[in-house]
Amino acid sequence: MSGTLRELRVEDLRVTFDGFTAVDGVHLRVGPGDLRFLIGPNGAGKTTLVDAVTGLVPATGSVTFGSTPLLGRPVHRIVRLGIGRTFQTAAVFENLTVLQNLDIAAGAGRRPHTLLRRRRGVPEEVAAALETVGLAGERDRQAGELAHGQKQWLEIGMLLVQDVQLLLLDEPVAGMSHEERDATGELLHRIGGERTVVVIEHDMDFMRAFASSVTVLHAGRVLSEGTVAQVQADPRVQEVYLGHAPDRPVEA
Ligand SMILES: Nc1ncnc2c1ncn2[C@@H]1O[C@H](COP(=O)(O)OP(=O)(O)OP(=O)(O)O)[C@@H](O)[C@H]1O
Ligand SMILES: [Mg+2]
Repeated sequence: MSGTLRELRVEDLRVTFDGFTAVDGVHLRVGPGDLRFLIGPNGAGKTTLVDAVTGLVPATGSVTFGSTPLLGRPVHRIVRLGIGRTFQTAAVFENLTVLQNLDIAAGAGRRPHTLLRRRRGVPEEVAAALETVGLAGERDRQAGELAHGQKQWLEIGMLLVQDVQLLLLDEPVAGMSHEERDATGELLHRIGGERTVVVIEHDMDFMRAFASSVTVLHAGRVLSEGTVAQVQADPRVQEVYLGHAPDRPVEA
């Protein structure tokens, strides 16, 4: 599955909960290798958009990854297409070691007989993921003992061992220290060259430092899209974030 980078294409996406439209006709294209930030106020529909792409909520419209349509597919089939996501709260097995967590994630993509076979040493993809996410020195520690930031990196590592081509990360740096944020931004750049990354984020400094492109959602719709500079200069974005249109653009 690796080697072929595909475009994520979202057309006229709609998600409705009991008559309330959380995602209201979203068009979005994320090209191969992009590091796209998805920003917007609370309730803008960011998480729901990712839920729809990953099969967690029903939606109408169309979502394709490369030439493959995603809407209506069950979650595990979407994972097998090389699409992985993290959640606003990290989901790792706290009682298992870092290595065991990665091994289980890698096993999710393996056939049962390969899983049962006794393996000597650390599988290549697991060793590579440990290096990439900077947890090689922590591999035998219990995941529950890791710092908050390290747990998020482990979760990203669990996607990497599954050879995920499209990563959708929901607020990965929430609650992180400045150092952890910077390390995460660098991590996203390292993996972004070979994979497509969509990051939901509230932290504007983090976005300015690391985004390749930005989509702003507001009330279930795309409000603005472009480079960091273009989005920051957009009066509609300023109005949503500041509650009024300022006389001059927000400083970059
Ligand atoms: N399962 C659900 N049932 C009903 N309404 C929902 C459900 N999930 C989300 N919503 C509503 O849909 C809207 C969009 O929510 P969503 O979680 O996608 O926003 P968000 O942009 O991720 O916000 P935040 O920045 O706070 O995480 C909100 O008004 C939310 O209350
Ligand atoms: Mg959210």
